[in-house]
Amino acid sequence: MITTVPSSSALFVAFLFATTFLCSFPELVLATSKHASVTRHYKFDIKLRNVTRLCHSKGIVTVNGKFPGPRVVAREGDRLVVKVVNHVPNNVSIHWHGVRQLQSGWADGPSYITQCPIQTGQSYVYNFTIVGQRGTLFWHAHFSWLRATLYGPLILLPRRNESYPFRKPYKEVPILFGEWWNADPEAVIAQALQTGAGPNVSDAYTINGLPGPLYNCSNNDTYRLKVKPGKTYLLRLINAALNDELFFSIANHTLVTVEADASYVKPFESEIIVIGPGQTSNVLLKTKPEYPNTTFFMLARPYFTGMGTFDNSTVAGILEYKKPLNTVNTPPLKPSLPAINDTSYVANFSSKFFSLNSAKYPAKVPQKVDKSFFFTVGLGTSPCPKNQTCQGPNNSSKFAASMNNISFALPSIALLQQHFFRHANNNGSYTTDFPAMPLMPFNYTGTPPNNTRVSNGTKTVVIPFNTSVQVVLQDTSILGAESHPLHLHGYNFYVVGQGSGNFNPNTDPPKFNLVDPVERNTVGVPSGGWVAIRFLADNPGVWLMHCHFDVHLSWGLRMAWIVEDGKLPNQKLPPPPADLPKC
Ligand code: C2O
Repeated sequence: MITTVPSSSALFVAFLFATTFLCSFPELVLATSKHASVTRHYKFDIKLRNVTRLCHSKGIVTVNGKFPGPRVVAREGDRLVVKVVNHVPNNVSIHWHGVRQLQSGWADGPSYITQCPIQTGQSYVYNFTIVGQRGTLFWHAHFSWLRATLYGPLILLPRRNESYPFRKPYKEVPILFGEWWNADPEAVIAQALQTGAGPNVSDAYTINGLPGPLYNCSNNDTYRLKVKPGKTYLLRLINAALNDELFFSIANHTLVTVEADASYVKPFESEIIVIGPGQTSNVLLKTKPEYPNTTFFMLARPYFTGMGTFDNSTVAGILEYKKPLNTVNTPPLKPSLPAINDTSYVANFSSKFFSLNSAKYPAKVPQKVDKSFFFTVGLGTSPCPKNQTCQGPNNSSKFAASMNNISFALPSIALLQQHFFRHANNNGSYTTDFPAMPLMPFNYTGTPPNNTRVSNGTKTVVIPFNTSVQVVLQDTSILGAESHPLHLHGYNFYVVGQGSGNFNPNTDPPKFNLVDPVERNTVGVPSGGWVAIRFLADNPGVWLMHCHFDVHLSWGLRMAWIVEDGKLPNQKLPPPPADLPKC
């Protein structure tokens, strides 16, 4: 799994291998030392590999031939150095989703935002430190739809001498949700962008890369979680699906959420979890005190309220109590899941998240706001090019998506490069006039306007260092109200309020939670509703904010914040590394 070995004595390694803990995280052997923080080296060889699912074999893009990709493990305070070498025909870049990247914006990874993609035969070293974060995140490709197969867990453990703010689990298990396409996802999105139609949907959901027995031909491709009775397991849930929020439940078991997006939360119980693409969460699974005489399905299927088609299928894994001799032959018990479009379950679930806000882990919610923004998020249309037929809305246009009605066009040179070298190049290909509010207000969640046309541009918002920012994200009903998992790069934000319908600037803000709101990097903008977030812009760089549905991202539901340098040396973005990829 890990390919580069930081020095450590063989004796020491042998001793550590004896402990069970290290059996689950062999990576840690290599980096353990008396020092508080260490540097951990990984090598990611991007290469093709043949994989078969649902009786379809195809070549997929992988890291080191693994699907899902390898675990990256670090402790809070550690430095990660990951050399990515591209051996495939596609361009690629890797994003460390949720990592703050304090003054290391060159290592963030979104193509054409903080770097040009790594071209075939080229490499790039991502070098960054984990500051003030612990829990589960993930890494994924950030070029086109390559993250369909290029993703893996990013596990952030507490510092060596620190413990979890909950009882130490017996074992820790990553649970990655993904989507499987029989077709090549790159061809799927290319065709959709060409015709203007909604893209084909996936053929299956997966748990740790496996679709499970509810799909054709997949009995042997079932994830099995083998447990012992009377123990507590920490499940590291990661939604790496491209386009779908998911409900997840394990029959006859309750899950206790203790962390979200690598921040601790006040623990709460639930039978059914809601997790959007880009969201991660640690949950505790307490196993039954005695061996039960059955096995239990762990199921995930989508939450969806939009108008288009979606993959309406269910992935199943199996939770089984591993009795030394006996095997169980009864069919697994099934959990029940909410209706596909159960928005009130989702709203209720998201209202259960609060920051731990303890002395050790205080919630540093900005109490005052320097700059306030109101962004609509939703779908729209682009005109069909002349001499072409289109299959988007009314069969005469193309699907698009926007924030404040601007569909963000990627530049051909990374924005961060353009921004950083502005003295050398004053004719950048972006503008700084992203509107703070919609130019043409309308009844966002009411009857949609007749004109659904978006405008296009590479528009950014420039904010001075240490600006305290509030953003209200408002869903629109244009082409169907839909929940949008909005992700901000380079920051965590506090979710200070949310509601259904249109945001009311007079009556809603007094109800904001400025004490212990949850801290996240990805929040679901409620279908037909709004959410308010706050963050302190203390990290200079260029930071993408976008819907984590790849289809909406491809349609332009994204924008970028440019956070200027502060005055002090430690408030400035350093120059790029020498191997930063060229466009
Ligand atoms: Cu997880 Cu910009 O992405």
